[in-house]
Amino acid sequence: MANIAIFASGTGTNARKIIEYFKENANIHVALVVSNKATAPVLDMADAFGIEKMVISRQRFYETEELLQALKQRDINFIVLAGFLWLIPEYLVRAYDKRMVNIHPALLPKYGGKGMYGMHVHRAVKAAGEAVSGITIHYVDERYDEGSAIFQASCPISPDDEPEDIARKVQQLEHQHFARVIEKLAGQLEENNTIE
Ligand code: GAR
Repeated sequence: MANIAIFASGTGTNARKIIEYFKENANIHVALVVSNKATAPVLDMADAFGIEKMVISRQRFYETEELLQALKQRDINFIVLAGFLWLIPEYLVRAYDKRMVNIHPALLPKYGGKGMYGMHVHRAVKAAGEAVSGITIHYVDERYDEGSAIFQASCPISPDDEPEDIARKVQQLEHQHFARVIEKLAGQLEENNTIE
């Protein structure tokens, strides 16, 4: 049984897709949405689906382990970063080793790292004149976008494509693949899957 927390900072279109995908699933359950931003639309979406939500301050996130306690209390054994923009502190990386994944809107190791998120990525891809872009789903470690890759999918880019067009193509890939990859990984959790 996988009990998932989704961390998201913004709109949450990926979070929505994932929640919808697992709505009727008996073994995989989205139990919590965590955001660093009290006004993030993803929190209203969580409400609409009746999913518990939590807002975390920078101080609590980096200087305490309260979030880890809260996750354990809720038996969360898998974390999904879906547009979550803060670097994950070591205590969480350690506790959720190979049980925390991120989606990045480019083909890592290209166009990753600090400051490379959302439209910044697509503008950089356009500026470099790339003929392809795509998505990377990877495990999370203490550095931005450097954990080992699990899955990639790509899309062609034409010279006429603006960053907004690239964003649209990449988002389509995200919505098509992210929940399925999570399903596979969560399905592989061992029987004894509580977090120590
Ligand atoms: C997604 O495109 C995701 O890949 C990206 O933020 C977007 C969130 O969209 N994440 C990063 O750039 C992380 N570096 P959403 O809120 O609509 O799901």
